[in-house]
Amino acid sequence: MHVRDCHNVEDFRALAKRRLPGPVFDYIDGGADDEVTLRRSAAAYDDCDLVPGVLAGVADIDMSVEVLGKRIAMPVMLSPTAMQRLFHWEGERAVGRAVEKFGTYFGISTIGTVSIEEIGRTVSTPKLFQLYVHRDAGLNRALVQRCKEAGFDAIALTVDTIVGGNRERDLRSGFTTPPRWTPRSLLSFAAHPGWTLNYLRREPFALANIKDYVTHGSSVAMGVADYINRMFDPAMDWKTAEAIRADWGGPFALKGIMSVADAKRAIDIGATAIYVSNHGGRQLDGSRAPFDQLAEIVDAVGGRIEVICDGGIRRGSHVLKALSVGATACSGGRLYLYALAAGGQAGVECALAKLRAEIDRGMRLMGVTRLDQLNRSNLRWR
Ligand code: FNR
Repeated sequence: MHVRDCHNVEDFRALAKRRLPGPVFDYIDGGADDEVTLRRSAAAYDDCDLVPGVLAGVADIDMSVEVLGKRIAMPVMLSPTAMQRLFHWEGERAVGRAVEKFGTYFGISTIGTVSIEEIGRTVSTPKLFQLYVHRDAGLNRALVQRCKEAGFDAIALTVDTIVGGNRERDLRSGFTTPPRWTPRSLLSFAAHPGWTLNYLRREPFALANIKDYVTHGSSVAMGVADYINRMFDPAMDWKTAEAIRADWGGPFALKGIMSVADAKRAIDIGATAIYVSNHGGRQLDGSRAPFDQLAEIVDAVGGRIEVICDGGIRRGSHVLKALSVGATACSGGRLYLYALAAGGQAGVECALAKLRAEIDRGMRLMGVTRLDQLNRSNLRWR
């Protein structure tokens, strides 16, 4: 199986599963506890059907949307995800080169593996930095300052990771960053020599944006939940968020808002956008799916803040449904991560091209030429 045999996210997932050592695949694929929220986040879109329109003259369509101060050429942003150089040796570099061809927002994580400065220099598409608030306030301020100097367009403050989710696949596999060499992990790395040789031959693994802090502040190999619990600031609150927004001064999002009350509070602190998100089902299992919660939030905020639907997006039709409910844009992680693992830059380009083609085809079949023509009259819940 090759990238050219992949036609959808599920195909890329199958290829990624073959290419990656089990613990690394499970880190991408898994969620918290029983993974109920992980599964529901994708399945929620299937509880609602599109009602197409016809004879609408759809020769020319425009799928751009405006979000976080930028007009992006397709309505799906790339959600920030950690440690991409574990999934493919080129990591964020490969994703950055791919996403440039699609003119959408590229999000990088505080715990990414290519630096803010390098992304700033090399990626011309709109760039978002995802901030995790660490216990060291100086580190947080320094990261915001680096984003300003590197020409980033937006910051998203992740608010749903105040403690680490209980990701049992990671506990079972003993997943750590960097990978720890145990008899079991060695077996799984030996079974994937392509991945392992690239990992060992290329530049050493590092959390590029915080590497000085991490090596000085803690032992290097640790589980992701341990990292979160030791390093992130559990005292973070609305005042923290407001202070970061003021310090940054540019387009600012809160990522991981699920309640109407919190959505309204995000307006009060002057945020530009919220990500309706449950962190891809990796944090609070049993929490609602973003798509299930979207209408309530869209109605409550009444256009006073941009609403990004993040999680479970696997198809162009999912994007059309979220936009019909009233989302400003969509965002996703696994929709490009499996493809990164499956084929690096070429994989991500292929995945984004397929998704864009699905949105294009879906718009024409729905009888719309612009995305703001979609509304709830195009939807029926079963
Ligand atoms: C994530 N996500 C995430 N979010 C964040 O704010 N900072 C991060 O470092 C990460 N890292 C990360 C790693 C991996 C492997 C995954 C799958 C996800 C969450 C991410 O931004 C997004 O919210 C989810 O991926 C959305 O769900 P889907 O699209 O993967 O279903």
